[in-house]
Amino acid sequence: MARTLLFLVLLCSCTALLTCTNGGDGGAGLRMKLTHVDARGNYTDEELVRRAVAVGRQRLAVVDAMASGGGGGGVGVPVHWATLQYVAEYLIGDPPQRAEALVDTGSDLVWTQCSTCLRRVCAKQTLPYYNSSASSSFAPVPCKEKLCAASDLYFCALDGGCSVIASYGAGSIVGFLGTEAFSFQSGTAELAFGCVTFTIIFPGALQGSSGLIGLGRGRLSLVSQTGAKKFSYCLTRYFHNNGASGHLFVGASASLGGGDGPVMTTPFVKGPKGSPFYYLPLVGLTVGKTRLPIPSTVFDLREIAPGVVVGGVIIDSGTPFTSLVPDAYDALAAELTAQLNGSLVPVPPPGDGSAVGAGALCVARRDVDRVVPTLVFHFRGGADMALPPENYWAPADKATACMAIYAGGRYRSLIGNFQQQNMHVLYDLANGEFSFQAAECSAL
Ligand SMILES: *[C@@H]1O[C@H](CO)[C@@H](O)[C@H](O)[C@H]1NC(C)=O
Ligand SMILES: *[C@@H]1O[C@H](CO)[C@@H](O)[C@H](O)[C@H]1NC(C)=O
Ligand SMILES: *[C@@H]1O[C@H](CO)[C@@H](O)[C@H](O)[C@H]1NC(C)=O
Repeated sequence: MARTLLFLVLLCSCTALLTCTNGGDGGAGLRMKLTHVDARGNYTDEELVRRAVAVGRQRLAVVDAMASGGGGGGVGVPVHWATLQYVAEYLIGDPPQRAEALVDTGSDLVWTQCSTCLRRVCAKQTLPYYNSSASSSFAPVPCKEKLCAASDLYFCALDGGCSVIASYGAGSIVGFLGTEAFSFQSGTAELAFGCVTFTIIFPGALQGSSGLIGLGRGRLSLVSQTGAKKFSYCLTRYFHNNGASGHLFVGASASLGGGDGPVMTTPFVKGPKGSPFYYLPLVGLTVGKTRLPIPSTVFDLREIAPGVVVGGVIIDSGTPFTSLVPDAYDALAAELTAQLNGSLVPVPPPGDGSAVGAGALCVARRDVDRVVPTLVFHFRGGADMALPPENYWAPADKATACMAIYAGGRYRSLIGNFQQQNMHVLYDLANGEFSFQAAECSAL
């Protein structure tokens, strides 16, 4: 039943028209501090990895469930939020109320749970629910307004309001569209948002935050609504970062140049119609000095049936670990196995505090920096993303570290946030380009 609803919703979202209007960039643009959801807990490195692995598994399970229930192999179904990892604080309303949102480049709607939420069907959150009656700047969006139709799935409520539904890997939310004054670490914006009154998601998927901020390509995302032509984020190191926070910049404040290395740029690939995701033209991989024998076509988007587009490489802020299509993963694992010969150690047994499964490549933790070669992701246009060991190897237990790149689905590859640590990445929407630069993110 739930699956049918989910699929219906996804079907509808595929046919949604995505166009942008609205001017005004908020002048200097918006800036917000990004805190990793696990920063609030007191976790060891291995526990952090274990949590991230669990996150990845949960997400894959959702994708598989959709694929088996969705007809057409489900391969054209977008992989929406199953778990997200970075939280931004903001203020909403007048007088301002505090809220915390998970930031998601893979969806559009900005939403927060509202005090009209029936407690039994809303997720627990750390801060009080937002109360629209206590805010003088709140206004409901009437169903008749164009803004309402900008939602992927909406219907007219009995009172003439605009009810919206959004579905994710983690579940669905129902609410009504309103407008409010939002205030971020720096910068303010008047935004249409979902005041959510019904939440059916996996326990824990909201991580105690109040809602989501969508940064996708659709019309209701924060990026589209503010008319921002670009946004950037810089994620601090996963481990030993001493509580340092990364940042998200939307609009004029988003720019590279303060980092350590050269700025690399590659064009975005046009994704399937209606997809909120950002696709990149990955063309190959190099490990150490060896370019892997992978045909670049394994990374292409392709149409396997009329209207069913599969494949491609997504850059994602919400998924921890990178996954590659099997052809690419196998070539990477084979080459690393050869290069690490002599240094490889057995995968720590599960249940022994190990964070990884069988088949992983592991070395002694003290050896990582000495033996693990640099891995380079080559993008079209000569943009090379060089990953030091710490961007693709993670501690599995006290003595062992393992590669944190996984064999993914048959068609699609995904670049996760672990790979993006200490890298400032810029999504330039006006020019259709993605840029990145190595950076000390805590210093931005
Ligand atoms: C974190 O955990 C360690 C080991 O379990 C403990 O020694 C330390 O006091 C904890 N720190 C905080 C802030 O809870
Ligand atoms: C919301 O705010 C109104 C107006 O201040 C107040 O009367 C009401 O009790 C509040 N609701 C909740 C659930 O706090
Ligand atoms: C790995 O090392 C062993 C012993 O040092 C050697 O016999 C073997 O040929 C090496 N294999 C590769 C693939 O380098």
